[in-house]
Amino acid sequence: MLKVLILPGDGIGQEITTQALKVIDCLNADFNLGMMLEHGLVGGNAYDETGSPLPQATLDAARQCDSILLGAVGGYQWEFLERDLRPERGLLELRAEMDLFSNLRPAILYPQLVNVSTLKEEVVSGLDLMIVRELVAGIYFGKPRGVEIRDGQKYGFNTAAYYELEIRRIGRSAFKIAQLRNKRVCSIDKANVLEVCELWREVMTDVAKDYPNVELTHMYVDNAAMQLVKAPKQFDVMVTSNLFGDVLSDCAAMLTGSIGMLPSASLNQDGFGMYEPIHGSAPDIAGKDIANPLAAILSVAMMLRYSLNQASLACKIEAAVNTVLNKGYRTQDIAIESDLVVGTNKMGDLVVEALV
Ligand code: NAD
Ligand code: IPM
Ligand code: MN
Repeated sequence: MLKVLILPGDGIGQEITTQALKVIDCLNADFNLGMMLEHGLVGGNAYDETGSPLPQATLDAARQCDSILLGAVGGYQWEFLERDLRPERGLLELRAEMDLFSNLRPAILYPQLVNVSTLKEEVVSGLDLMIVRELVAGIYFGKPRGVEIRDGQKYGFNTAAYYELEIRRIGRSAFKIAQLRNKRVCSIDKANVLEVCELWREVMTDVAKDYPNVELTHMYVDNAAMQLVKAPKQFDVMVTSNLFGDVLSDCAAMLTGSIGMLPSASLNQDGFGMYEPIHGSAPDIAGKDIANPLAAILSVAMMLRYSLNQASLACKIEAAVNTVLNKGYRTQDIAIESDLVVGTNKMGDLVVEALV
């Protein structure tokens, strides 16, 4: 029996996870998936109930399950808490505790949404790129960090740092994925300015020697941001550090029409994974039944493919999403005039309907 920990989190995290659960229920009932679900708290709601954004019970459950599905965390009401108690800290700690260093963020444009993208059809049609983001080190976790008084004024500081091994392992992840794709890795850094990126480039170049059938190129992050908007189809796999990957993946998301379309997998060395949409808790639209649940639903597909060895069921979910889009159904974020606009719940129901 597969045991999956469900962590809906905050804001739209609740609404979109409910839709993903409908899909899992359907796979259990009609396709013999045999997935057992356990529910837990993370983020702001966890803080409200237990005083911690990552309660020990959640961490214990995470260590005992086969996979984790997470919605999103965060919200205005927790923004002024001390940093260690904020929702985002809960998510970051969970990633770090489980050593989920390899964050896969595929940006795929569904052909039905080509006119929803803010870019011209010829620039984005057929887009299928994979961002591989290092997730448990870099400036997000580097020490020292803090805000203190220096020279009579406030001084804020963080440390961008990587051990060679941390770069090596995310490099290997990227090359392995590229071997299953178009065999091109573009490593994104700022080696012209930062020593940590100089090391990043050196190690990536060394890792590449073990993958002679994969082409490695390097690009500075400022140019990469520009190229993503100018000619995104030049990329196959992009590998980059924690912060650069965070920024570039939101940018890539928009090429597909909406951030509500992008799922992600965060994997450790053994293939254990946490799956979540790349977007946040969207407090501006929470509770209105308008959030797009497809990223959450597609995250279930990634879970089935990457951690649970159920690629054919993953394909079924992706095909169901395709069917629903073919029929013209859209949540508000991916709708243009002629489309049939539906809410979050209805979109979940439609995907389930298309599955069976
Ligand atoms: P966000 O991703 O929550 O929202 C950005 C914009 O995209 C908003 O206008 C929102 O309405 C829209 N959007 C996001 N997801 C959508 C969906 N599924 N359907 C339709 N529209 C969608 O980013 P933000 O506003 O910068 O952050 C809000 C909160 O979420 C913050 O507390 C932040 O820390 C947190 N956050 C959490 C995660 C996560 O849990 N993985 C990721 C990003 C941000
Ligand atoms: C993401 C989010 C998180 C990140 C935040 C909420 C900690 O933006 O998953 O992309 O920066 O990694
Ligand atoms: Mn982000």
